This record gives sequence, C-alpha cells and structure tokens, in this order.
Amino acid sequence: MRPTYNNAREKKYILSQSVSQPTKIGVFYTAFYGVLAALVAICMWAFLQTLDPRIPKWTLDGSLIGTNPGLGFRPLPPTDNVESTLIWYKGTHHDNYKQWTDALDEFLAVYKVPGLTPGRGQNIYNCDYNQPPPKGQVCDVDIKAWAPCTKENNYSYHKSSPCVFLKLNKIYDWIPEYYNDSSDLPEAMPQNLKTYIGEMQKTQMHKMNTIWVSCEGENPADQENVGPVDYLPIRGFPGYFYPYQNSEGYLSPLVAVHFQRPKRGIIINIECKAWARNIIHDRKERVGSVHFELLID
Ligand SMILES: *[C@@H]1O[C@H](CO)[C@@H](O)[C@H](O)[C@H]1NC(C)=O
Ligand SMILES: *[C@@H]1O[C@H](CO)[C@@H](O)[C@H](O)[C@H]1NC(C)=O
Repeated sequence: MRPTYNNAREKKYILSQSVSQPTKIGVFYTAFYGVLAALVAICMWAFLQTLDPRIPKWTLDGSLIGTNPGLGFRPLPPTDNVESTLIWYKGTHHDNYKQWTDALDEFLAVYKVPGLTPGRGQNIYNCDYNQPPPKGQVCDVDIKAWAPCTKENNYSYHKSSPCVFLKLNKIYDWIPEYYNDSSDLPEAMPQNLKTYIGEMQKTQMHKMNTIWVSCEGENPADQENVGPVDYLPIRGFPGYFYPYQNSEGYLSPLVAVHFQRPKRGIIINIECKAWARNIIHDRKERVGSVHFELLID
C-alpha cells in the first residue's frame, strides 16, 4: 500500500521533522567535541611547558640516585652470576680470556664508532682543560691514548697483565669539586696518588681539575700481589666532561687501569676509588668506589 497524505500541509510537516532533527544533533555534537578537544589541547600545552626532553624532571638532591656518583668497572663477569665480581682467566689461553676481551669489545664499540650513538657525529668537539665544549656539544674520548689497553693488543690479557676500565655513573648537572691543590688532600687518599697530584701540579698545572682515581689491593697481602698499576690516558676523569647535561651523543670518560704485573695463581682483592670533595666513599651503598677480584692462572 502506498503511503497517503491527508493534505499537502501534513506532508510538509513530516518532511521538515525528519530533516531538521539530525541537523540540530549534529551541530550540538560538533560544538561539544570541539570544546572537549580545546580543553585537552590546553591541558597538554600547559603540561608540555613544564617539560624539557633533555632535562630530567628530578635532578640532584631531588633524584633517587642522589648526588654521589657510583663507580663501575668493565669487563663485567658473565651475567649468569650477578653477584660475582671475579675476573678469572688463564693468561696463555685465547679461548679462556676471549670472553673478557669480547665483553670489552662490545662495551667500547660506541667509543670506537661515533655513528653508534645518535647525534654524536655532528656534536663531537675536541675538548681540552682550557677548551670546554660549547653548549650542546660533547667531548671526544681519545681511545688511542689507551694503549696498551686496546682491542688490537687484546687489552693486554694475553700477557697476564689485564686492563680494566673504570666509569663514573652519570648524574645530571652534577659538578665535581676537585682536589686541585696538592697541599689540601684528604688523609685517606693513597700516598702514591698524593705524590702523583703533587707532580701534576708542578708539571701540568692546567690538568688539576680532574676527578682522580686510585686502585689498590684491599689488604696488605693484596697490596703486595697487585703489583704496579698504570692509568691511561691520565689518572682520572678530566673535568671538562662535567657537568653532564644529556647533550645528544654524550659518552662518559673512561680510565683504563693496566695491572702490569699482578701475581698469578692467587685471588687479588682490588678496590678502586674516585676522588673529588663531593664524592663520598661508601662500599655498602656502592658509591664512589668499586670492588672486584683478579685471578690469573
Ligand atoms: C691477540 O690474541 C690473538 C688470539 O690469541 C692472537 O692471535 C694475537 O696475536 C693477539 N694479539 C697480540 C697483539 O698479541
Ligand atoms: C679548583 O676547584 C674548585 C672547586 O672545584 C674551583 O672552584 C676552582 O676554580 C679550581 N681552581 C682552579 C685553579 O682551577
């Protein structure tokens, strides 16, 4: 049956109802969502004003890491034993020390190839003590100065005189307070480091703003067994790497510690420390110092 309309007026009324109702709803929802979108945009904008992608929200004393940097060492013992800090190998067996030199290859790869760190290539700057990097640029790490602690030389593991690398944990905006006066050094500092700093002040005064490092046998027997220790390229972390401000491409400075003639066949307990006035050494909290053992069969 065809729908019939009583008259023309009724027909017009029905048509106007079915057209204007959806239009009103459409206008209402458009306005409603428009206002919502505007509110979200305003909140987002206000939130983003408080954030800088390069600056962490919590820094220094407000941060959980605190203001006391930790010290770390590489190569790390295999991950299947996280508690172990023992570097153990047979000097003459390549298969035996390979895991340590491989671990170092992997750790140092970013230092050898700037392209592995985003932004490093274009931001790299040839820093020196009297030439700190401009804002946003990062210092080069001279890996050739690590010799004999180089990949080509198997980090000297094959000669039973292994190299261990030290690294200070990054803390945003932390500024070291240097021991840059040899007449004002702490009691607890090892005598050979005091002597080194004294020499440095006489001959290379401009390098005094350095975070010094020391590595020693822990007990008297260890001190005897550890033998002579060399630090490359210098005995500390140069001050021009600080403060760390999350510039794109930044890599921490490293100190290569070369154990030149450690006694073989015995475990040697070694403790390394970083020295600045605002570094407190606390072995339990694992800050300012690091402990590991060496055993070369
Ligand atoms: C490094 O180790 C490999 C394998 O043992 C050896 O062939 C090479 O001669 C070593 N490098 C040096 C500089 O002795
Ligand atoms: C020595 O270190 C202090 C604190 O880190 C610094 O303020 C001062 O300028 C440094 N002295 C020299 C001669 O660089």
